[in-house]
Amino acid sequence: MPMPIIAPSLLSANFLKLEEECTMLNESEADWFHLDVMDGRFVPNISFGVPIIEHIRKATKKICDVHLMILQPERYAEAFKAAGADILSVHIEACTHLHRNIQQIKSLGMQAGVAINPHTPVSLLKDVLGDIDLICMMSVNPGFGGQKFIPQTLNKIRELRKMIDDNKLNVKIEIDGGVTLENAKEIIEAGAHVLVAGNTVFRSKDPKATIAKLKQL
Ligand code: DX5
Ligand code: ZN
Repeated sequence: MPMPIIAPSLLSANFLKLEEECTMLNESEADWFHLDVMDGRFVPNISFGVPIIEHIRKATKKICDVHLMILQPERYAEAFKAAGADILSVHIEACTHLHRNIQQIKSLGMQAGVAINPHTPVSLLKDVLGDIDLICMMSVNPGFGGQKFIPQTLNKIRELRKMIDDNKLNVKIEIDGGVTLENAKEIIEAGAHVLVAGNTVFRSKDPKATIAKLKQL
């Protein structure tokens, strides 16, 4: 089994000590910084936006993986590029013109991701799969950290992985929500490439050791 990419979600970080949290991640085996942007409209919570990401960008050389849980993401793609996003994911449920949004993200020079909610079938991705770099598959309903992993996600991962492999595409599957040291192995075995982990990393006694464990599974 190839080693997973580990993307800790800073939604669960201590915002008063954000610089220390970034340093910890820089020194850890984490590969990406997963940054959750919420607008209080697409999801029932508000998190952080462009100014915080600008600061995080200055504090790391690792990949900044920005997950937009916002309506009309096309209004902000340029601002997130300027803030330093490397990967920008938009929700399929928030985009009337998903294909256009993907082209916009790529033309700005970022990798394009599409995020899908637990109720959204992976078959809806068929006609954009060749255009994108990442699927951010939600394994909880987006909006909050610390929720429980929805088991049906495992079937969705297998189905999506088959679509990707059958078409010889180079798209990564990222699993977001409720990832723990207990379920990470079966998530990878089902075909995921990237593990997002918020609470599992930041609520653990030794976050660096926890990241190392996720990486070595
Ligand atoms: C949920 C966010 C996730 C979240 C994951 O809406 O997209 O990235 O922070 O947190 P955990 O790992 O605690 O479920
Ligand atoms: Zn996320």
